[in-house]
Amino acid sequence: MSVASVDLTQNDSVKNVDFDDSFDFSKLLDKPRHLNMERQRSLDERSLVEASPRHPSSAENGRHMDFENVFSPSKRSSFNSSSAQYALEPHPMFVDAWESLRKTMVYFRGQPVGTIAALDNSDEKLNYDQVFVRDFVPSALAFLMNGEPEIVKNFILKTLRLQSWEKKIDRFQLGEGVMPASFKVLHDPVRNTETIMADFGESAIGRVAPVDSGFWWIILLRAYTKSTGDTSLAEMPECQKGMRLILALCLSEGFDTFPTLLCADGCSMIDRRMGVYGYPIEIQALFFMALRCALVLLKQDAQGKELVDRIVKRLHALSFHMRSYFWLDLKQLNDIYRFKTEEYSHTAVNKFNVMPDSLPEWVFDFMPTYGGYFLGNVGPSNMDFRWFCLGNCIAILSSLATPEQSMAIMDLIESRWEELVGDMPVKVCYPAIESHDWRIITGCDPKNTRWSYHNGGSWPVLLWLLTAACIKVGRPQIARRAIEVAELRLAKDGWPEYYDGKSGRYIGKQARKHQTWSIAGYLVAKMMLEDPSHLGMISLEEDKQMKPTIKRSSSWSF
Ligand code: GLC
Repeated sequence: MSVASVDLTQNDSVKNVDFDDSFDFSKLLDKPRHLNMERQRSLDERSLVEASPRHPSSAENGRHMDFENVFSPSKRSSFNSSSAQYALEPHPMFVDAWESLRKTMVYFRGQPVGTIAALDNSDEKLNYDQVFVRDFVPSALAFLMNGEPEIVKNFILKTLRLQSWEKKIDRFQLGEGVMPASFKVLHDPVRNTETIMADFGESAIGRVAPVDSGFWWIILLRAYTKSTGDTSLAEMPECQKGMRLILALCLSEGFDTFPTLLCADGCSMIDRRMGVYGYPIEIQALFFMALRCALVLLKQDAQGKELVDRIVKRLHALSFHMRSYFWLDLKQLNDIYRFKTEEYSHTAVNKFNVMPDSLPEWVFDFMPTYGGYFLGNVGPSNMDFRWFCLGNCIAILSSLATPEQSMAIMDLIESRWEELVGDMPVKVCYPAIESHDWRIITGCDPKNTRWSYHNGGSWPVLLWLLTAACIKVGRPQIARRAIEVAELRLAKDGWPEYYDGKSGRYIGKQARKHQTWSIAGYLVAKMMLEDPSHLGMISLEEDKQMKPTIKRSSSWSF
């Protein structure tokens, strides 16, 4: 492993963009373009309508994107060598974070292929010595932002090779497209060889396959393509096939009556039983984003074309469903509060037969006058009113949320700052489940006691998602505030994985130290604030064609 030194003395190439409330993001459009931009533009401009065979022409639909077009691959803040250049005297934590991140790099046969989940030697390791797909995302973004795409490319290709493995749990074979949750490089000192071991859920606690890994993989492929302007990786037949296999898993026809994706508890970041089975927001938002990324990356050849058509249809249905039924604001809460139940037929207002008695007490106080969010889960007679950070931020970044909904999510975060950010950004979900609910929902999980870990714990990694979402909606000052809160303690505390307590004042009981995504999440947040054009690699502008044709009325009937 190489640990490169950081030189902060030269600092003329990166301009710091100073934010205030009136920051004009259109200024970013003036930035220099890379030679590959022309090619890339045509790739990105493919909108839902253009992709659909029934709407062959949509030139006017092309460019309502802002951040998607503003990046400039030639402008980089290299943070790895003696020629490093940086605009301002960076926060000492930033320097520390880069050094720490480099120490986590994992090599396979001499090539960097990922970053280890945590470099904490103090405790028993469990599987924190592995490269997790979801954990690598903020590391990858940091490297891309720093002009170091090689590790990202290697990671994409390495995990693609793992996808083709035969995956079995006992005698049952998993779907071909499943991507691993994590992998590990094994060194044999006697034979001096290296091999890779991967986990697709067959070793994971609870034996759940990671539904999010494939989605993150596609999202990362687009980020790489967007950031470097190099379309050749995504165009490789192997990458095209990898995408098709992932999509085949989630676009297959079945008994579904909803366009959302049905899944098991613990199949994403919250990888333990936490009542996130059914149609959890995290998976739905990532699903939506991955579909949109695939739409721009898939070649429209014989195999790709049919898939593109299915993606377009699914995106239309999914955005309608999510924007309508998962959305909660004061008005919607009022409607649910007064719902009639046991309605039958097409005219039903309370389509999922949600009982008003199932509304939890806390939600009435939590809901601000201005603001709203996507619910944790919606299914038959089931609404999970908990607020989840990742799903709501991805909804903003992918434009699953309309611009009004995105603003409302930010309004809610501002109004409920103490609850959601408090002393350490950001709560993975709010609120915690306690007592009887905790027993029933978690199965008495001692790691997920109230206000700890996945159950209302605070996760520094989520800072990058919050920051990206804030920049997207033009409110970076919110992110700046959150970063300042994190800077008070995060490095001093040794970059913990998570914090406990109602406002995140305590280092997580079983939290690893030197958790890589806590480090990388901070770096990405800082670099994005410094240069908001980086947002383009992880954000998608609204596709106007997906706007609901009918405005929401007072009920669920359209
Ligand atoms: C925990 C987290 C999971 C993460 C893993 C490695 O299991 O719940 O989201 O990927 O640790 O950091």
